Amino acid sequence: DKGGYKHFMAKEIAEQPSVLKNTLSHYQNADASEVELPDHNIDLAHIDRLTMVACGTAFYAALTAKYWFEKIARVPVDVDVASEFRYREPPVSPGTCALFVSQSGETADTLAALRYMASQNATILSVVNVPESSIARESDLVLPLHAGVEIGVASTKAFTAQLAVLALLAIKIAYARGAIDAAQYRTHIAELNRLPGLISQALGIDGAVQDIAKKLATAQDIIFLGRGALYPLAMEGALKLKEISYIHAEGYPSGELKHGPIALIDKSVPVVVMAPMDPLFDKSVSNMQEVMARSGQVLLISCKQGLKTAAEGTWAQITMPTTPDLLAPIIYAIPAQLLAYHTALAKGTDADQPRNLAKSVTVE
Ligand code: F6R
Repeated sequence: DKGGYKHFMAKEIAEQPSVLKNTLSHYQNADASEVELPDHNIDLAHIDRLTMVACGTAFYAALTAKYWFEKIARVPVDVDVASEFRYREPPVSPGTCALFVSQSGETADTLAALRYMASQNATILSVVNVPESSIARESDLVLPLHAGVEIGVASTKAFTAQLAVLALLAIKIAYARGAIDAAQYRTHIAELNRLPGLISQALGIDGAVQDIAKKLATAQDIIFLGRGALYPLAMEGALKLKEISYIHAEGYPSGELKHGPIALIDKSVPVVVMAPMDPLFDKSVSNMQEVMARSGQVLLISCKQGLKTAAEGTWAQITMPTTPDLLAPIIYAIPAQLLAYHTALAKGTDADQPRNLAKSVTVE
């Protein structure tokens, strides 16, 4: 049942405020003073290194979480795509924790990577949407998304729920390790509880995105740029667009632009810049100006204040709510999803049934 929407994808994008509310409610105590995980016997205070493995959108969720685990919890993190990880058979030091992210819990490469890490005596954690899946069954600790069934082939609500669960885990581990104090821990929990409201507010961009999508739909190539935790979001925005609109798109770290991809820029290439007002904002803006100096058509996605400071000379703008730094990559998933969806609509492709793709990739 599409609940009145044209596609499951649109329904699943729209239901994210209630999905996230539900996800968050499963991971905290009544007065929102503690992050609570399902029962386990893992010593969180002594997680000294984390290896994260996933595919596709789940891989981008893991890459985003690397920024949180390293910055907030001070735990070094390796992230890899499962199809590479499994055949590289990396050496595993004693006490390694491996975390697998998978909506379906059945992705063949991710499951094989999990089995390899289990054979090396790593502790296995997983973030899955399907609690009875193979990946969940073979984990020492399963963190379910509680996102409900995801039907659209392009992952949307599972992605933001993965990010929410990974953020909760990062602050839980940060506090257990003494990397943040009780006040910072509570502040982060309170920030996470603002997610449903901020996501609802972000969904208000739908009309603006429809107009922008009409122009994006005529492009051959689109570049997405972001810095810090917004870099994986740039790749996620590009992946969503490729999947359902069939337009070639690439996500790059803004600072990497001048090392090659800037050669692609001319007036026919739209460049989507994801730049919340965080400590890296000025750097993103100067990269954006380099694009505009080469006639690139910039779509700037930022908050009101960010747009006021930097929108001059851009082709289009999307106004996002002001967000705490922790939440920015989760909130900026909304424009990534809506740009892909409305561009697909404008091109007349079927967002729910993209060509050549299956919802669950159970063969390698
Ligand atoms: C993209 C998408 C895929 C999946 C990937 C992993 O929109 O849906 O890239 O994210 O196939 O699937 P799971 O999360 O089920 O392991």
